[in-house]
Amino acid sequence: MSIDETQKKLNEYFSEKLEEFGATPKGVDYNGTESQASRFDQLVKVINPSQPFSVIDYGSGYGAMFDFLKTKGWRFEYYGIDLIEKMVIAGREAHKDYSNAHFTTDEREVPIADYLLAGAIFNIKLDESYESWQEFVCETLLHMNSLCSKGFSFNMLTQYSDADRMAQRPDLFYGDPLFFFDFCKRNFSRNVALLHDYGLYDFTILVRKNV
Ligand SMILES: C[S@@+](CC[C@H](N)C(=O)[O-])C[C@H]1O[C@@H](n2cnc3c(N)ncnc32)[C@H](O)[C@@H]1O
Repeated sequence: MSIDETQKKLNEYFSEKLEEFGATPKGVDYNGTESQASRFDQLVKVINPSQPFSVIDYGSGYGAMFDFLKTKGWRFEYYGIDLIEKMVIAGREAHKDYSNAHFTTDEREVPIADYLLAGAIFNIKLDESYESWQEFVCETLLHMNSLCSKGFSFNMLTQYSDADRMAQRPDLFYGDPLFFFDFCKRNFSRNVALLHDYGLYDFTILVRKNV
């Protein structure tokens, strides 16, 4: 299957989740609010909130990250980008009272932001081979890097550990943290953090461009 076909199937998968569960964590395929929030906690570590900032939420779903950032009391301009029109419409509807919340399917409408965050967008690969999905992730990271000036962060399921590997599902992508750490170091910045210490079956990478 080509990456385009996989992407099309993924769009159908996420659209169905949204239809079934609405603008809730389950509507973007999380188990619940807690697992979503603890991942957001890690992703936002790339942000220096001491001054107002702009942020792209890449693969925003219905924009749960906006609500998370809002609870922090930070001053920011938020741009949610998602491939799925229905997600974008749900995001706009849920955040219509906030002039700093913007949602689109069209990246060209979005200015280069200070930061970019990408939560749980690489986890499902369906029938793609491990190698071709990893290559697709790398291409996406190169693109994400071009959309922000100060830094970006992303997370994915982890290949560790051996015992857990027995239970890995073939349709999910369990990335190699060391591969992605190395890829980010070599391609993006000397300042890269690998966070693999928050008790979930995934890891987060922070790329800081201008420390
Ligand atoms: C599991 S949901 C996560 C939503 C949100 N980031 C969160 O953590 O609540 C993944 C979302 O990413 C979107 N997505 C995946 N790949 C994308 C891409 N390359 N560009 C834009 N959106 C993408 C999907 O359409 C889906 O809505």
